[in-house]
Amino acid sequence: MKILVTGGAGFIGSAVIRHIIENTPDSVVNLDKLTYAGNLESLAEVSSSDRYAFEQVDICNRTDLDRVFQQHQPDAVMHLAAESHVDRSIDGPAEFIQTNIVGTYTLLEAARAYWNELDSERKQTFRFHHISTDEVYGDLPHPNDEPVIASAAKQSMDCHGLQPRSDVLPLFTETTAYAPSSPYSASKASSDHLVRAWLRTYGFPTLITNCSNNYGPYHFPEKLIPLVILNALEGNPLPIYGKGDQIRDWLYVEDHARALYTVVTEGKIGETYNIGGHNEKTNLEVVQTICAILDDLAPMSDRGHPLNIKHSSLIIHVSDRPGHDRRYAIDASKIAKELNWQPLETFESGIRKTVQWYLDNQQWCKNVQDGTYQRQRLGMV
Ligand SMILES: NC(=O)c1ccc[n+]([C@@H]2O[C@H](COP(=O)([O-])OP(=O)(O)OC[C@H]3O[C@@H](n4cnc5c(N)ncnc54)[C@H](O)[C@@H]3O)[C@@H](O)[C@H]2O)c1
Repeated sequence: MKILVTGGAGFIGSAVIRHIIENTPDSVVNLDKLTYAGNLESLAEVSSSDRYAFEQVDICNRTDLDRVFQQHQPDAVMHLAAESHVDRSIDGPAEFIQTNIVGTYTLLEAARAYWNELDSERKQTFRFHHISTDEVYGDLPHPNDEPVIASAAKQSMDCHGLQPRSDVLPLFTETTAYAPSSPYSASKASSDHLVRAWLRTYGFPTLITNCSNNYGPYHFPEKLIPLVILNALEGNPLPIYGKGDQIRDWLYVEDHARALYTVVTEGKIGETYNIGGHNEKTNLEVVQTICAILDDLAPMSDRGHPLNIKHSSLIIHVSDRPGHDRRYAIDASKIAKELNWQPLETFESGIRKTVQWYLDNQQWCKNVQDGTYQRQRLGMV
C-alpha cells in the first residue's frame, strides 16, 4: 500500500512516517510545504528508504496536488498538514484559515478528482483519513469549577490533589457537539465539517480522528513540554499561563502514530475515532514533573549552580492565554473496542523518554530554531 502523508515533516507526521517505514511494508509519499514547523531532519532515520519519497508542495496549490496524485498513485491519504499552534492563531489567524480550511478543501477536491478516475477495485479500497484535534469540542467542566460538578470531582482527586478522576467528570466522545474556542480550533472544526460533507455529498471515503495533546521527540520548541525542557536547561524562567490548572489529556506521539496507522488500515469508512492517553494532568503538574526528571538526569549543580537549587525554582506565573480552554479529556473507548488500540506509554514512562530525548538531541533543537522563533512568548491579544 502507498500512503500520501501531508504534513509529514511536522511533529506527528514525522512520527507516522517513521512508524510506517520502520514497522510496515508500506510506502510513503511525504507532501509538506516545509513551514517553520516542518523539518526534514526529523525523518533522517527513514529518508534513505526506497519506500519513502518527498514532495515540497503547499496543500493550497491544486496544480501541484494533481501532479502528485497522478505521479505517485496513492492508495490512501493521511492528512496532517496544518497550522497547529494556538498562540500563533491568536497573533495571525489568516494563515490558519488558509491552510486548515482552504488547504483541506483543495486537498479534498484533488483527492476526489483522482479517486473518481480509479478503477472500481482501487476506488473501493481508497480512503482519506483526516487528522484532527479534541480542541474542536471546546472545553469540559473542571474540578475547580463551582459548585455542582466540582464537589463530586474534588472528592475524587488522588492523594496529590492534582489528578481528577475521569469517571466523575465528563469526557469528549465522538458525538460531543463542536464548540471551538480559538482561531486554531475553529479552523480545524471547519476542516472536519468539510471532510464529513464530502463523505455525505459525494460518497468520498473519509475517516476522521480527533486526538488529545501529543508529546514526545521532535516536538517544535514552541509547545509547552519542549519549551519547558529547553528553557530549564538554560536556566531561563519557566512561564506558566495563569494558575497552571488547565487540564490536558497527554498522549505519547508514537502511540498516536500507531493509532493513526490502525485507523487508516482498519477503520470503518465514515467513522470518527477519538484518540487519547488516559493521562489528565494540569499544566503545572506537567512542568513540575519535567523539573523533577531534570533534577535527576541533569541537575543544575552540574551547570555551576549551588547543590540545593532545583529546576522548579525557575517556574513563574504569567498572564493567561486569551480564551484558554480549561480542561480537555478524551473517551477513547471506541477505538479500544472496535480497533483494539491502547496507548502503550504511561505519562510517567513517556515523559521520562521525552526529557532524555531532548537531552540527547540538542543539536536538532538548535537547528530548528535557527529562524525567527527564539522561544519568545506568542499569542497575547
Ligand atoms: N500536536 C498535537 O498535540 C495535536 C493533537 C491533535 C491533533 N493534532 C493535529 O495533527 C496534525 C499535525 O500536528 P503537528 O503537531 O504535527 O503539527 P506541526 O505544526 O508540527 O506540523 C505541521 C506540518 O504541516 C506542514 N504544513 C503547514 N502548512 C502546510 C501547507 N499549506 N501545505 C503543506 N504542508 C503544510 C508544516 O510544514 C509541518 O511539517 C495537525 O493537523 C494538528 O491539528 C495535533
